[in-house]
Amino acid sequence: MIDKATVKRIIDVADIVEVVGDYVHLVKRGSNYMGLCPFHNEKTPSFSVNRQRNICKCFSCGKGGSPVNFIMEKEGVNYHDALLHLAKKYGIKVEERELTDQEREQQSERESMLVVNEWAMRQMESNLTESEEGKTIGLQYLYQRGITNEAIAKFHLGYAIDKGQDLYDKAIKSGYDVKHLKSVGLCGESQQGRYYDRFRGRVIFPVHNPAGKVIAFGGRGIKGEPAKYINSPESQIYVKSNELYGIYQAKTSIIRQNKCYLVEGYMDVIGMWQSGMENVVASSGTSLTDGQIALIHRFTENVTLIYDGDAAGIKASIRGIDLLLSHNLNVKVLLLPDGEDPDSFSRNHTPEEFREYIENNETDFIRFKTQTLLEGCGNDPIKRAEAIRSIVKSLSSISDMIKRSMYIQDCSRLLNVSENILILEVKKARGEVVEEQRKKIERSSASTDSAEASIYESMASKKAATDKEDTTFCSILRPLEKNVITYCVRYGMSDYAATDADGEIVYLKVFQVIADEMSLDNLTFTTPVYERIFQRINDMYSEYSAQRGEFRQELDAEVQKRYRAGLDKIASEQLSVEDIAHKEDLLKRELDVFCSSRESEFDKLYVSKILSSDPDDELRNEVLNLITEKYNLSKYHFKTTRIEVESDKLSELIPRVIDEWKDGVLHVKIEQARAELKRITAENTGEDIVPIMAQIQRLAQARQQFAKQIGERIIVPKK
Ligand code: UTP
Ligand code: MN
Repeated sequence: MIDKATVKRIIDVADIVEVVGDYVHLVKRGSNYMGLCPFHNEKTPSFSVNRQRNICKCFSCGKGGSPVNFIMEKEGVNYHDALLHLAKKYGIKVEERELTDQEREQQSERESMLVVNEWAMRQMESNLTESEEGKTIGLQYLYQRGITNEAIAKFHLGYAIDKGQDLYDKAIKSGYDVKHLKSVGLCGESQQGRYYDRFRGRVIFPVHNPAGKVIAFGGRGIKGEPAKYINSPESQIYVKSNELYGIYQAKTSIIRQNKCYLVEGYMDVIGMWQSGMENVVASSGTSLTDGQIALIHRFTENVTLIYDGDAAGIKASIRGIDLLLSHNLNVKVLLLPDGEDPDSFSRNHTPEEFREYIENNETDFIRFKTQTLLEGCGNDPIKRAEAIRSIVKSLSSISDMIKRSMYIQDCSRLLNVSENILILEVKKARGEVVEEQRKKIERSSASTDSAEASIYESMASKKAATDKEDTTFCSILRPLEKNVITYCVRYGMSDYAATDADGEIVYLKVFQVIADEMSLDNLTFTTPVYERIFQRINDMYSEYSAQRGEFRQELDAEVQKRYRAGLDKIASEQLSVEDIAHKEDLLKRELDVFCSSRESEFDKLYVSKILSSDPDDELRNEVLNLITEKYNLSKYHFKTTRIEVESDKLSELIPRVIDEWKDGVLHVKIEQARAELKRITAENTGEDIVPIMAQIQRLAQARQQFAKQIGERIIVPKK
């Protein structure tokens, strides 16, 4: 693990212009640098690099971010490895954090396990190609299945000798600890305390993690054993649901092709590889997991599922689809002719034919799902309705609004269902997704209840009347919350002049002002990622203070230096006493301005610089959008002659967006209460409606009151 201070140093020193400059020819244009986007093909530059914010972004495909982000995308590595990459570039020695005893033990345990696996892989490779048994049994089998020497070398295929303790004996002789042989699952222990090899007389497929470490093995039986495959058990180094077979061999190609083929088994990966498709990984026979999808997503957004054309294959692919969609991947499906899998198909066709088949038969998920589901229900209206519901569910997992509405259009045509009905149904289904998120927030904020403290109460504490309304509420609140969080990200540590109870001006940080306002009315962000961002900003304050102190000291030293140099220069100019005094005055003022502008720049950039290199992917990307989006302040930006600079007007803009948010919360609460009232009347349960009507009235008054307050603020003379 890299210690925190080093991470900070790397992030501080990595200069976006230099980092991007290693890959892209940049030309200075205004205050930015421009170049051709390295993430997609283009002829006119739309990749912009901003040195001050230390971020880059493609205005065409949207990719970019901090130096860490850029390296992650470009090199296809994870957060940790991107930091190492940058550390190397800048010659920063990476100090591993002092580990606790327990961590140290675990780490050395992990390392020993990886070492023994690496050794075993080599051993079994040589069994396959050098031992008599391996050559006559294992290698023959592989040849028979059409596997080439090249593929054998590439995937490090091996053979386990069919004896009780072959590997065990060799391992012990080479000095490996039986403890590790057991924990990685290469050996087992019998009841009599004898050790034995778990893989015997099998062809071995080593499983690598993306960094190329051997974390597990799959052993294919070749004598028609009941267990076709034996696999390594899960262990400290192998959590099956987070790994994909073939990812190490495929990752460069996935990045280059910007596409990943997903198949079922070891043999399928190898078959496709032999047909020239290197960007292929396998989920190893289980249904896809979040972890596996996240792994793919590190390298590309485009996934094509390739499955057998039989019923089981179809079912399996349908199950995987919604999960992929919810991760915002673009999903296609390719069904092979009945009875074929990628392995057999690659053997029975030339690479050209295979490629052509893919091109002609790759189907967009929605078309695929619709077709297969509709085929299955014939004229049965109930089955048809069920199928439509299931498609609606897929549609509702797409979180990208534009993509979603495009698919809705498509589907309405395919299903022969009116677009409006589909929109409505998808909205409902999305409500459920949103509801789930809301419940999560509810759980996390349940601890902070200060009952009747304020009229706003915690937004989440009230059960929404129906899903449809809930979606509406969310769409009301989210943009309002976004305004507020945008200021936190852009100016969180900037000074904000507020007036205290005695009318004295006090300087607070922007995020503190916002936090105070929120706690006053018990507000929380209902959008989970905003809440996380806000939490991070709160958490970074003490570190900020420390660094700010250091920065101030350095700055003081610099100012002193400049001051002395300035005085020397004035002295050398042989001026009159008066002129000297005047010049010295000027110099002091100049240095004051220099000092405060450097300080406010430090404050302004602090939050965004740290968050745009945060390990949390969703958070980091959201932050990037918040920084780069042309933020629409239309309502407040009257037609003025001079172009307003956002940061000049914080003390007007921030109260404004907070007020709008609070107003939105009241609005939602009123709507919720109204819906509740409607429900009570409609269901005619005999429940007393007086309290709820009173509540509506109370809320409506509060909102009116509030509107006045905002009105007054607006007419306060500017400047
Ligand atoms: P398949 O049965 O399709 O295996 O299972 P395959 O890789 O194509 O092998 P061949 O072509 O029959 O030789 C797909 C994947 O499911 C896992 C393996 O990862 C396999 O690659 N599996 C299958 C097991 O783990 N255990 C089994 O018994 C069967
Ligand atoms: Mn197969």
